[in-house]
Amino acid sequence: MTTYKIALLDGDGIGPEIMLEAVKILKLVAERNDVEFELTHAPFGASAWFECGSSFPDSTKAVCDAADAILKGPIGLSHEESKKIPVDQQPERGALLPLRRRYNTYANFRPVYLPRGLAHFSPLKPEIIGEGIDLMIIRELVGGLYFGLKETGVNAEGKRYVKEVLEYDEDQIRNILKVAFDTAMKRKKVLHNIHKSNVLKSSVLWNEVLEEVRVDYPEVEVIHILVDAAATYLCLKPTMFDVMVMENMFGDILSDQGGGILGSLGLMPSACLGDNKAYYEPSHGSAPDIAGKNIANPYSMIGSVAMMLEMSFGMTQEARNLWDAMQGVFAAGFSTPDLSKADSGVKMISTSEFGDRVAQALQAAPKP
Ligand code: IPM
Ligand code: MN
Repeated sequence: MTTYKIALLDGDGIGPEIMLEAVKILKLVAERNDVEFELTHAPFGASAWFECGSSFPDSTKAVCDAADAILKGPIGLSHEESKKIPVDQQPERGALLPLRRRYNTYANFRPVYLPRGLAHFSPLKPEIIGEGIDLMIIRELVGGLYFGLKETGVNAEGKRYVKEVLEYDEDQIRNILKVAFDTAMKRKKVLHNIHKSNVLKSSVLWNEVLEEVRVDYPEVEVIHILVDAAATYLCLKPTMFDVMVMENMFGDILSDQGGGILGSLGLMPSACLGDNKAYYEPSHGSAPDIAGKNIANPYSMIGSVAMMLEMSFGMTQEARNLWDAMQGVFAAGFSTPDLSKADSGVKMISTSEFGDRVAQALQAAPKP
């Protein structure tokens, strides 16, 4: 029997309640498969700052260092609450970006997956959704503007100025492009390369490196799209995409738009992979306004568990079972108040009941 150590970073807002559902599922997966999970909770985010005076405490770093994979809840507070924390300790700058940097999790996978059964969540017309949307956004996660040099000050003319550097070296670009080509090979062998080479030199280098990398993937068709046009096509014709690759900032924006076409970021799990460590997280925020009410949908969190099972532990079939179990709960007409309106005809259930129903459905699936 294999034992995997998983660090659980509950995070802020709705984090702890959706983490409970993820743990429910992990325990069931361990019962059904020849694996054991050693689960260790550790404080992370704004709650960690209030508890321990650091949003990414050393004790949490030690738990993550020792883990085979990390499952992370959303972090962050309301704008007002955030002001109680010093700027550099605020959870985005003090915890999340340092986590990404520490484990060099450069490859961020954000699936935009809308099978027909979920089509009613989407604001798009049925003729645009067609047979369903299934695309994978691959976002570079540890370079570009996010991690470049930042400078603020007063210039020679006495005016306040700011300078933020967008920097990539060819290795960083090559690494993420290889991940994208490998993913395309496993899927439909079509890769949409998203860039802005008509303006940005960083995109020119990106595309140069792409020409070198693609030599090793002769079967993959590459389609170039400027990032602004890609934003339009995501709304008008999302089914034209299968795998999309892009730099960090473009990926931040377009992946939220991916959530938009699904109808909610609550339907977007994600995986962040480095060469030696991976963490998994919902793409949505901590939703402080609905925290503690047992109404947040745990789909993104449980979906992140499914991605962990597949990408960190090679449990492909059980991951598939888990996706199907979640779709099954929606298909049976259930939903939660954060995703659906009371008068929308769905059978409204709570966070924990959603988790229970996913667990029941998974229990009913044949063991891998
Ligand atoms: C995301 C988030 C983060 C990002 C924030 C919280 C720093 O929006 O994971 O997309 O911008 O990368
Ligand atoms: Mn974002």
